Amino acid sequence: MSEYKVALIGFGGVNRALAQLAAENNPRWRRDLGFELRIVGVSDLYLGSVISQAGLNLDELCAIPAESGALARVPGGSSKPFTEEVITQSGADIVAEATFTNPVDGQPATSYCELALNAGISVVTTNKGPVAFHAPRLRSRAAERGVEFEFEGAVMSGTPVIRLAKEALAGAEILGFEGILNGTSNFVLSGMEMGLSFDEAVKKAQQLGYAEADPTADVEGHDVRLKVVILANELLGASLRPADVACKGITGLTQQSIDDATVNNARWKLIGSAMKSPDGVVTAKVEPLLVPQSNALASVGDAVNAITFKTRMLGDVTVRGPGAGRVETAYALLADIISIHRKKLAGEQK
Ligand code: HSE
Repeated sequence: MSEYKVALIGFGGVNRALAQLAAENNPRWRRDLGFELRIVGVSDLYLGSVISQAGLNLDELCAIPAESGALARVPGGSSKPFTEEVITQSGADIVAEATFTNPVDGQPATSYCELALNAGISVVTTNKGPVAFHAPRLRSRAAERGVEFEFEGAVMSGTPVIRLAKEALAGAEILGFEGILNGTSNFVLSGMEMGLSFDEAVKKAQQLGYAEADPTADVEGHDVRLKVVILANELLGASLRPADVACKGITGLTQQSIDDATVNNARWKLIGSAMKSPDGVVTAKVEPLLVPQSNALASVGDAVNAITFKTRMLGDVTVRGPGAGRVETAYALLADIISIHRKKLAGEQK
């Protein structure tokens, strides 16, 4: 049996949900997965920070209110975010990085990941910024230090499309993909079909924990652009930067165009796609498309995401599942930790 000591960087919805999942499931994980999680540190720009190498009381931690400086109420806690100390001095084996995504340069999350990897600590992240802008550098840093850099939750939250494509579809030759990769915008489009206004639907998506801190990234397609870059680079061997991907969001769609689509048996969807040409050039884009009901993506509503992989051997393979949400995204962190655990076991067997 193993225990992983985890430092949580960012304590918004996602890492709070991970702590809650650990509080509820540690005995089952110990039995079924062979490990449990001990939370040894938390740092959050708004809430402050706390370190406990012996492990924090998870019920107490999960009960802290979302108020400025609230981590000072936990024994040993501070109202200040001592992020560097939490990463390097908590005794963590794994840093779970779930701070906000910065769509411009991926900071400061990238620095947090780098600090952890340099200190020989594995990183699991749901943050699109570090992966879209710096995955090759972070991956090679992890390899140099003999630790892992995992990021399944950066695309489609808990629905494991990156691992599925890299492992199970590895021999199928993925030529491209098209997908609904943003829960908020899909939720907004579904809401408008049901008669909600654009603003009402965005507000509801924020309340449900789907939207980014600034929902502009969701509705203008910038969030999908990062996910398209991640998928194209990881699965198609591209070296794209976000600026290489043409991007248009859903803010130009009127209620009239949405109603017209319904009458014509079609639905507007924000589609992120990439294709590799026979000479190996990858082109990618993000745009709203009118999808006929016959397309597998058309039936995907609310915050659900879906992706169709275009493969040479199998034709289209479509996967649908949660694409946003606190627990759904926290599950991806657990999936990354399971992967780290299995690699560790495989290494020990060798
Ligand atoms: N804001 C994102 C979405 C969260 O709505 O899909 C998951 O990346």
